[in-house]
Amino acid sequence: MLTEKSTDPIGVFDSGIGGLTVAAALQNLLPSENIFYLGDTARVPYGGKSRRTVERYSIEIGGLLLAERAKIIVVACNTASALAVPRMKEMFKVPVQGVVAPGAAAAVASTKNKTVGVIGTRATIASGAYEHAIHSLDTDIRVISVACPLLVPLIEEGMFEDKVTNLMLARYLAPLLSAGIDTLVLGCTHYPLLREAIARTAGPAVRLVDSAENCALAVKNLLEKNTLNAPPERLGKLDVALTDATERFLRTAAKALDLDIGDVSLRSVQNIEKS
Ligand code: DGL
Repeated sequence: MLTEKSTDPIGVFDSGIGGLTVAAALQNLLPSENIFYLGDTARVPYGGKSRRTVERYSIEIGGLLLAERAKIIVVACNTASALAVPRMKEMFKVPVQGVVAPGAAAAVASTKNKTVGVIGTRATIASGAYEHAIHSLDTDIRVISVACPLLVPLIEEGMFEDKVTNLMLARYLAPLLSAGIDTLVLGCTHYPLLREAIARTAGPAVRLVDSAENCALAVKNLLEKNTLNAPPERLGKLDVALTDATERFLRTAAKALDLDIGDVSLRSVQNIEKS
C-alpha cells in the first residue's frame, strides 16, 4: 500500500561523511528509496563534544531534513545516536532511527561467550549507550568498551591499509582481545571502511557487528510498520548535502563504498561553535 509520504526521501544524517556507510547499506537493502544524506561537515567531529552540543546540532540537522520532506530520520552517526536520539524522538513527528539499538541487538544475537567489545568515539563510549542497550536485552553480557579517537582521522585520510593504522588498531583492541571478546561492535559509522584491517587485528574468533547493516534492517522494518515504503518498481537516488564544502573525503568514501552520488549541495547551519 502506498501513502502520501511513500515517495518522500529517507533523511540520513551524520556529523560528516562516515554515515555514507549507512546510506550504502540502505541503498543495497532498499533500492527503490530516495535517500537525502546530510553531513554536518562544518561542525565535524562530534565525537569529542558534550551531550548538550551534540543534541543541539542533531536537532538543527533534523529540522533541515524535515525541510527536505524526510519521511523518516536516520541518525547515521553513533555519537549522535548515543547522545541525541532520545531528545530527537521527543521533538520530531516522523520516526527517528539511530544506529545504537540495532547494533546492540545484533551483538546480543552474535555473542556465544557473553563477552562483547565496543569501539567508538570518546563521546559514544563515555555515554555508556551501548552497555545500556545491550544490558536492556541481556544483563549477563559483559561489555568492554574502548574509545578510539585516532581512528576517524586515519580513516578520513584514506589510510585503510597502513602501518600506522594497524599499529593503532593493535593498541586499541589489545584490552578487548585479552578480555576474550567473541563479538566486536563497530560503534562508529566510519569504522566499516576499516573492516578488513579490524578483522585482521581481531582475528577469526571475533565476529564484527556493523552498525550500518543492522541500522538498514531496522529502517526497513520501520518503513513497513508505518506504511512508508516507496513504490517497489522505481530506482531510488542518493542526494548529498554538506554544511561545509569539504568534498575530498566524500570522494574517498564514495569510491570505497562504490556509491553513485547524485546532486551535492550546501546547507547552512546556525550554531557554529567558536574554537
Ligand atoms: N560519525 C561519528 C560517529 O559515528 C564519527 C565522527 C565524529 O566524531 O563526528 O560516532
